[in-house]
Amino acid sequence: MKALVLESVKQLSIRDFPITERVGPFDVKIQIKACGICGSDIHYYTEGAIGDFVVKEPMILGHEAAGIIIEKGEQVRNFALGDLVCMEPGIPNMRSHEVLEGIYNIDPEVVFWATPPVHGCLRETVVHPAQFCFKLPQGMSAAEGAMMEPLAIGIEAAKKAAIKPGDTALVVGCGTIGVMCAISALAGGCSRVFISDIKAEKLAIAGSYHTNIVPVNTGKVHLQEYIMQETNGLGCNVVFEASGSPQVYPDFFRCAKKGGKAVLVGMMNGTVPLDVALLQGRGLSIETIFRYINCFDRAIALVNAGKIDITRFISKTFPFEDSIAAYEYAAAGHPDVVKVMIEL
Ligand SMILES: NC(=O)c1ccc[n+]([C@@H]2O[C@H](COP(=O)([O-])OP(=O)(O)OC[C@H]3O[C@@H](n4cnc5c(N)ncnc54)[C@H](O)[C@@H]3O)[C@@H](O)[C@H]2O)c1
Ligand SMILES: [Zn+2]
Repeated sequence: MKALVLESVKQLSIRDFPITERVGPFDVKIQIKACGICGSDIHYYTEGAIGDFVVKEPMILGHEAAGIIIEKGEQVRNFALGDLVCMEPGIPNMRSHEVLEGIYNIDPEVVFWATPPVHGCLRETVVHPAQFCFKLPQGMSAAEGAMMEPLAIGIEAAKKAAIKPGDTALVVGCGTIGVMCAISALAGGCSRVFISDIKAEKLAIAGSYHTNIVPVNTGKVHLQEYIMQETNGLGCNVVFEASGSPQVYPDFFRCAKKGGKAVLVGMMNGTVPLDVALLQGRGLSIETIFRYINCFDRAIALVNAGKIDITRFISKTFPFEDSIAAYEYAAAGHPDVVKVMIEL
């Protein structure tokens, strides 16, 4: 089948790729209709690796996708042929300790699309467990469906923050993930969400989404001073770190209200020093997230309810034939781009 293949670092091709997948009794076969480009896809494309995950052989990219069910296993009851679905890209070993504990996202055996050596889904069809597919309601497009993967990360962060009605939040980093955290925090009950970055174009996109998402350009203002001034000297109930930049610590924690929560979303190579006394003195609890646990249905429900407008963040769409151009465009890192989408 036709696929977008990462042959080696910075070498992409659209070509026939031999894949034979059997539709098991609990699986569905999906014709891919849309696939977003994620930061991780760009890392594999430009560097060939993320940490210990190294691309050693040609690999199909893409893990944020939606499509139409064209075949189903005999045990699949909750889907019909023709259903438009989006897919959760990571499949755990359903018999693992972590699955029983309800933390399937960190099962070491998770098989995740476009994480070497596992192929991604930017290809004509995929076979996937029905359990990890989610039907899109009438009126939701495949491209919106593909956005449910990054949105699920924001939802997971909002869940871990245990937001209470009227909370104020701060999100550090206004990349795709920071934006997903901000809109999830707002939809989850926050009255005001500050979002900080050093890039004005990124902040402008987030700020134009809603009057209660307040951009803070930390190239111009001091973050902690600004947050304290805006919150009567108290700080935010919840602070999300979504930049992955070690420099934001420990000031990031100082923006939290005493007794508040800090949710660590951004990832980094290496470590940061932890000011334990600062955390203790502020009575902060720290939460971490890794991808998501049961968030796709929530993401879809919020979009369907009109609580989240996800189309705003699809910045540019390319047809599958132009996938290589789409990757080059995404890798160029235009500051006014949130998500680049490919449609098939
Ligand atoms: N925990 C998870 O499951 C998970 C999932 C996906 C991505 N991530 C991580 O989330 C982070 C963000 O991902 P992304 O795709 O949005 O990346 P991105 O590069 O698009 O966004 C990062 C943003 O942070 C900004 N930034 C950098 N330094 C800053 C600073 N000192 N203060 C404020 N802003 C600063 C950048 O200008 C950029 O806009 C990355 O570390 C990524 O690895 C985590
Ligand atoms: Zn992604």
